[in-house]
Amino acid sequence: MMKQNQNNLSVLLVVLMVLVIYVVYVIVQDDQPGELLVQSLQKELRTINEPILKSDPSVFTDKDIYHLIDIQSNEELLKQGRNIFFILTTLTNNGTIQLTPRQACAIESAARANPDWKVFPLFVFAKWFNVSSDPFIPSLLRFCNIRLRHVNLETFAVGSPVEKLFTEGALSKSSFIVEHTADVLRLLTLYKYGGTYLDTDVVVRRTLNILQPNYLGSEGSGYVANGVINLETTGYGHEFAEACLKDLALNFDGTRWAANGPFMVTRNLQKFCNTTEVVNMNRQQCGNQLTVYPPDVFYRIRYPHHDWFFYPERSVEVMKAIENDVLVHMWNKATSGIQLLVTSSAAYIQLANKFCPNVLLNTKENF
Ligand SMILES: *[C@@H]1O[C@H](CO)[C@@H](O)[C@H](O)[C@H]1NC(C)=O
Ligand SMILES: *[C@@H]1O[C@H](CO)[C@@H](O)[C@H](O)[C@H]1NC(C)=O
Ligand SMILES: *[C@@H]1O[C@H](CO)[C@@H](O)[C@H](O)[C@H]1NC(C)=O
Repeated sequence: MMKQNQNNLSVLLVVLMVLVIYVVYVIVQDDQPGELLVQSLQKELRTINEPILKSDPSVFTDKDIYHLIDIQSNEELLKQGRNIFFILTTLTNNGTIQLTPRQACAIESAARANPDWKVFPLFVFAKWFNVSSDPFIPSLLRFCNIRLRHVNLETFAVGSPVEKLFTEGALSKSSFIVEHTADVLRLLTLYKYGGTYLDTDVVVRRTLNILQPNYLGSEGSGYVANGVINLETTGYGHEFAEACLKDLALNFDGTRWAANGPFMVTRNLQKFCNTTEVVNMNRQQCGNQLTVYPPDVFYRIRYPHHDWFFYPERSVEVMKAIENDVLVHMWNKATSGIQLLVTSSAAYIQLANKFCPNVLLNTKENF
C-alpha cells in the first residue's frame, strides 16, 4: 500500500516536472516575435471585427488587420506629461499605415533612448495595418512604451481655439494640406496633453530628461523651427501653446509652406520673449520659463551640409560633431530623395545601426 503510494507520488512528480519544463519551454518560445507581439497588440489595439470601409468589407475581416485606437479614447494615459509625439500625415488611398524606414527609425530611437517616456506616433489619414506584412510595426510594438494612435480630425480640435480651422475647411483647402495639418496638430497636441513633439526625420540619441522643460530650437535661418517642441501641460508652456493656437485661428495661411510653422512660432516667441532677435531668445530673456536653443542643439549639421549624413566620406566628421547631441535632425524635406543603401557607411546608417537597430534589420535594401 505504502509502496503503491510512493510509486504514484513519483509518477506525479515526473508528470509535474515534465509540465514545468513544458511551461518554461513555451514561455521561452513566446519570447519570439509572434507571441510577444500578439500580447502587446492585444493590449494596445483591437482587431477589426466589422468593416470600417463599407465599400470593401473583405479586406477588413482578415485576422491580420489591426485598427488603431483613437487617441481620445484613453486620455488618462497621457496625463503624466512625459509624452513624445510624432505626427504622420501621409495620405494613402486605402487608409493603411505606410512608414518609411527613416520614419520608423525616428520612432524606435525615441523609444529606446527614453524608456521612461511614452512614444505616441499619431496617424492622421491612416487607420490600420496588416501585422503579417508590415515591415516595421511588429518590431516597434515590441517596445512597450510605443503606443500607435489615430487622430480623428472631426473631434480632436473640438473646444480648442482652432476648432473652426478643422470644421470650416480652411485646413482641408490648404495648398500644403499634409504639412499644414501637421503644423497645427503639433501645437494642438501639446496644448491638450503636454510633452515633446518631434519631426519624423530625427534620430534620438539620448534621453530628453537632460533638457529643462519648455523649449524649441532655432535652425539658424532667423526663424525658430518647429521640428522639436517641448511644452508642459500647465503654466508657461501651456500658455505658449494657447497663444500659438489663437494666432493660427486668426492668421492661418494655406498658401505659404512655412506660414503656420516656423513663421508662426517665431512671431509668438518674439512676443513671449520680448525680443525680435532669435539669438536673444534665451531662458532668461523668455521669463525664465522657455528656451530657444541655438542651432547646434537640434540642427547641428546645417544647410547646405544637410546631405553630409548620406555620404560615407563625411561620416567621421559628422559622427564626431554630433557625438554628445540629444538628437540629430536629417532634413527630410531636402534629403528624402537621396538614396541610401543599408550597407552604406554613411553617418545616417551608422546612427541607425546604433539607435534604431530593429528598423535597420527589417529594411531590405534602401534605408
Ligand atoms: C494600400 O495602398 C497602398 C498604396 O497607397 C498600397 O501600397 C497597398 O498595397 C494597399 N494595401 C491594400 C491592402 O490594399
Ligand atoms: C496581410 O498580409 C499577409 C502576408 O503578406 C497576406 O497573406 C494577407 O492577405 C494580408 N491581408 C490583407 C487583408 O491584406
Ligand atoms: C521689452 O524690451 C524693451 C527693450 O528691450 C524694454 O524697454 C521693455 O521694458 C521690455 N518689456 C518687458 C515687458 O519686459
